[in-house]
Amino acid sequence: MSFEHLDEDSIIRGLKTRSFGRSLVIVDECGSTNDVMKGMAESGAPNGSVVIAETQTAGRGRLGRAWYSPRGGVWLSILVKAQELPSLLNSLPLVGALGIAKPLAEKWGLNARVRWPNDVVVGWRKIAGISVESKSKGNELIYAILGIGINANFDSNKIAAISGASASLLILLGGPVNRENLITVILSETEKMYESLHGSGGKDLVALLRELDCSRGEHVKVRTPEREIVGIIDDYESLSRVRIITGNGFESIENSALVSVDYQSD
Ligand code: BTN
Repeated sequence: MSFEHLDEDSIIRGLKTRSFGRSLVIVDECGSTNDVMKGMAESGAPNGSVVIAETQTAGRGRLGRAWYSPRGGVWLSILVKAQELPSLLNSLPLVGALGIAKPLAEKWGLNARVRWPNDVVVGWRKIAGISVESKSKGNELIYAILGIGINANFDSNKIAAISGASASLLILLGGPVNRENLITVILSETEKMYESLHGSGGKDLVALLRELDCSRGEHVKVRTPEREIVGIIDDYESLSRVRIITGNGFESIENSALVSVDYQSD
């Protein structure tokens, strides 16, 4: 299969954001866009800078897992710098997931849902994942990198490593998606949500999350550094805190404490 290369001009023309993507780098291949962005952040790149790769040779998922990143996908990292970040940091994965699921549902007509803590799924098959890496100095957070991976224009069924649990937009939509359009729309949505988180603490985002979520009512096994919690996801207390019903009552878990999350339905 041959792939159309991303058209940088068309992304720039389509941007409706204030800062996300206003400084934009597109590379053909890299290890991980998160690492490229780290280098840019260290050299003083501005808030909202974005790096996109056509393919990654060492893409990283959450918890250091490998992330398969063939040509045709959307692999990008956004630099987020804000003084209030420490308290917002744990909300960023779900901000990214909402910023993808909402437009995929509204504009592309997919039944896209957010699966806690950081996935976008259609029919329980993963189509996108979000990672957050950050740098701090003492208690001060210097920057965060929001990594977004979307299985777009490649045939996920042909990739044994992901075919069972994942799907791609190519398969779900029955043809390729306009990646430039997808990228500009997602940058807009994610920026709006990030600003709302920043401004109002994200109360409206919890309401949107309840609309788009598919995790509540699911049986999970969650590990934190101290213990293992088995139960049913009950509700979101905030974008960074989930409540689980266990045999002994309720447990409230902050996203930062997560070591792993396993769904019984997987
Ligand atoms: C996950 O679901 O585990 C998160 C996946 C995040 C993948 C993206 S692709 C762009 C960026 N670069 C990386 O190496 N990872 C993130």
